[in-house]
Amino acid sequence: MKFFVDTADVAEIRELAETGLLDGVTTNPSLIAKTGRDFLEVVKEICAVVEGPVSAEVTALDSATMIAEGRKLAGLAKNIAVKVPLTWDGLKACKALTSEGTMVNVTLCFSANQALLAAKAGATFVSPFIGRLDDLNLDGMELIREIREIYDNYPALQTEILAASIRNANHVKESALAGADVATVPPAVLKGLATHPLTDKGLEMFLSDWKKTGQKIL
Ligand code: E4P
Repeated sequence: MKFFVDTADVAEIRELAETGLLDGVTTNPSLIAKTGRDFLEVVKEICAVVEGPVSAEVTALDSATMIAEGRKLAGLAKNIAVKVPLTWDGLKACKALTSEGTMVNVTLCFSANQALLAAKAGATFVSPFIGRLDDLNLDGMELIREIREIYDNYPALQTEILAASIRNANHVKESALAGADVATVPPAVLKGLATHPLTDKGLEMFLSDWKKTGQKIL
């Protein structure tokens, strides 16, 4: 499973990229607004930090302007994935941009039928929003399972399932079990995946016993 980080904070992206475990980045207009920085400038900077896909979202609602915005964003760097909303205009823009060789992430997906349309439009990624469905007492993970099953029925569909709106470590594990290709994870949740109280306790014991031997490896 690929790990993307869901943030537009360049310092956090840089720190995670140094682990060598980061496969890409997703941003959205809300995350850009949080930085208080210029959109194009921050996206360009992120693209220089990570080699993998960096999602940057269009803000137009009509397909013609979405395509124009998408072309401008794609011109910023080779690893841009243009993010378009899952509307008919977004699907039209997806088809046009992917035909030109641009990666497209179709976002705000809340149903399996929407995901099927995104794949038919040639999307590189489709982003089902788990947390926002869970917020409404619906089952976000069930959506991932449904999309996986549908895509697997039609091997010609090459769209990757990008589990989005992830709120906790369980969402990451469940997405992996459900067969999502990618999880985009907030930095704090991503960092938390490596921690376990028994790991800390075990390490403390090993090091205290090692100290008693008086030995050194280097
Ligand atoms: C990423 O592509 C999505 O925009 C993001 O995961 C949405 O997360 P949220 O529902 O926590 O805002």
